[in-house]
Amino acid sequence: MLDNDIEKTIVSREEIAGITERLGEELTRDYKGEYPILVGILKGCIPFMSDLMKHLDFHLEIGYMDVSSYFGGLTGAVDVKIEMDLNIPVKNRYVLIVEDIVDSGRTLHAVIRLLEHRGAKDVKVVTLLDKPEGRKVEYVPEYIGVTIPKVFVVGYGLDYEGRYRNLPYVGLLKPEIYENA
Ligand code: PRP
Repeated sequence: MLDNDIEKTIVSREEIAGITERLGEELTRDYKGEYPILVGILKGCIPFMSDLMKHLDFHLEIGYMDVSSYFGGLTGAVDVKIEMDLNIPVKNRYVLIVEDIVDSGRTLHAVIRLLEHRGAKDVKVVTLLDKPEGRKVEYVPEYIGVTIPKVFVVGYGLDYEGRYRNLPYVGLLKPEIYENA
């Protein structure tokens, strides 16, 4: 049923499976002997984090943060708000942030600064999708599943008005879905 609303697949189920396996191997090699906290940024991280962690062969803890960016009134400045904070202390810990997508880079810019300010020893990012053409803040994630062009995608955690997160792949919505909204 959800398939009917999708114009084109951008990252298929098979590609996602390959990506999580490859990133899992890289991370298992790089985090050997460490005990990091995986910090998922809600809500989009859920499917990716769930699949990725099954390929991580080292001890870890998991935690979540919910962060939203908003445009500030008259100044037009962009800021981020911590809707739900991490409940594990990060001081002197290795932290690996798990994202579904990096677009403007604002969310990560703020979260990384916050975790470093709290004394994390090392903060890195693994993202399923990277959209470098969307950047407003200079930032390059350490671990990238796949780079995509500047298109609006849904599925595998990514939503349109709260829907389509449960689609098992990443795709482009048919224009009529927006037009009829
Ligand atoms: C999305 C995504 C990232 C952020 C990336 O989250 O999951 O957290 O936007 O965008 P940026 O690089 O421009 O900051 P969103 O705020 O849509 O929340 P959601 O995951 O709950 O849908």
